[in-house]
Amino acid sequence: MGFLKKYKNIIEAAIEEYKFTDQPAQLYEPMNYILHLGGKRLRPVILLMAYNLFKDDLKPAVKAALGIEYFHNFSLMHDDIMDRAALRRGKETVHTKYDENIAILSGDALLVKAFQMLEDLNPALFKPCFQLFSHTALKVCEGQQYDMNFEEQNDVSYGEYIHMITGKTAELCACALKMGALVAEADEEDAENLYEFGLHLGIAFQLMDDYLDVFGDYEVVGKKHAGDICENKKTILYILAKQQGNEKQRAELDFWFDSKEEKTEKIHTVVKLFKDLDVDKLCLELINDYTEQALNCLEKITASEEKKQDFYELMDYLLIRES
Ligand code: IPE
Ligand code: IPE
Ligand code: MG
Ligand code: MG
Ligand code: MG
Repeated sequence: MGFLKKYKNIIEAAIEEYKFTDQPAQLYEPMNYILHLGGKRLRPVILLMAYNLFKDDLKPAVKAALGIEYFHNFSLMHDDIMDRAALRRGKETVHTKYDENIAILSGDALLVKAFQMLEDLNPALFKPCFQLFSHTALKVCEGQQYDMNFEEQNDVSYGEYIHMITGKTAELCACALKMGALVAEADEEDAENLYEFGLHLGIAFQLMDDYLDVFGDYEVVGKKHAGDICENKKTILYILAKQQGNEKQRAELDFWFDSKEEKTEKIHTVVKLFKDLDVDKLCLELINDYTEQALNCLEKITASEEKKQDFYELMDYLLIRES
């Protein structure tokens, strides 16, 4: 993780520099609160890494990177309301600490601040970056809507699931990488290959997020254990269990995923089913597959192997991450 530190430090410093001091405090304080809970800063870090493949002075890319992190945190504020999650990064979520109306409005304001971070780009870069960002924002909304639709649907296919996570998670990773290339004025083909790389990386990332929800150490993850099971989320673990299970096991899954109960019996039974069916191992295999595909896209990019080294280390880290 050491190599990531240099990029992460730049983002942390930018978060401090642009800390919100506007009024009313009730609107801006929650925005500072969520940004100061920490987090991996993955998306702004990969934007800077992509930029760094082509240019050395990172400064011109910092505000765009910060905008991407603002967007991510905005999406989490609203996601935690939708997912009824009380814990994020080991601390209270915004709607739990303040209230839902505050989490809605502060989230909206953070979304606007995200777009404002692009204002200083030179006019030739502003348009393609703005178009990419707004395209991405809609894809995230689409993915989030499918995620909620699927709570009520027990026959979600693997393809539908991948489509949903591509929207809610992978598109923002792809956007971050492509924007790094755009701001660095890299050629179009490299920018597209970075975008494709980001989609695969993002899918692998969300598969791991689903895995950690059940099989991670919740204290390290910083989120409620098995929150996805409580909310009937159609995660990769569920999809694989449905594929692997016999008729009786599938019926058992359907039974538990038909009611939104917070019962420990539900969590216990579903987790046992997941384990019996080895979906944890199958999920890790899929993460490996998507990581391989991501690395194939990275290969096509016209930067030196030395320049790509940070990305190889990042992919290794993402395979063993615990939060
Ligand atoms: C959480 O993202 C939301 C997903 C898309 C899975 P991260 O796991 O990157 O969250 P932080 O920013 O590091 O807390
Ligand atoms: C979140 O997916 C995706 C977005 C916020 C757009 P999850 O709902 O799985 O993320 P966590 O697990 O709450 O971090
Ligand atoms: Mg969530
Ligand atoms: Mg969610
Ligand atoms: Mg999750």
